[in-house]
Amino acid sequence: MKEQKEHINRRSFIKRAWAWLGAIAFVELMAITFNMFSPGKRKNAANSSFIKTAGLVDDIVPGTVLPFKNGQFYLARYADGGFLALSLICTHLGCSISWDGQKEQFVCPCHASVFDDKGNVLSPPAPRALDAYKVIIEDGVVMVDTSHKIRRKRFEKSDLVYA
Ligand code: FES
Repeated sequence: MKEQKEHINRRSFIKRAWAWLGAIAFVELMAITFNMFSPGKRKNAANSSFIKTAGLVDDIVPGTVLPFKNGQFYLARYADGGFLALSLICTHLGCSISWDGQKEQFVCPCHASVFDDKGNVLSPPAPRALDAYKVIIEDGVVMVDTSHKIRRKRFEKSDLVYA
């Protein structure tokens, strides 16, 4: 009789333990599902991987062009203080351009397209200006949103971003 009672207690303990484990697994599954479909969280995660920090506004001297090869862009700061992030992909067939600081031009090594410091075509075959990326300035920090390219025919003054 005592053995049978002990057996029942052990059995009910195991049942309760399984019920608790099931409840914990259910709660975790709900939390994972909520995080997956929560738009705010998804947006933040996406943003964090596409937004590149370029540096402090005060550290980027006007009249410079800085390469950020990992982010696939050049960050230019012009004499008036405006910022522009230019894609380093040539608009002809997609080769990587490079900056010639002496001539103040971007040059494509593949078919010799040349772009000015704002990305305008100086010499074809490139059909249009270099694409740009959105520049964000917050709390004195310059960031570039590489989540999508801004296609441009040519440079417009409104492309520039100021601190
Ligand atoms: S890919 Fe740049 S000129 Fe052709």
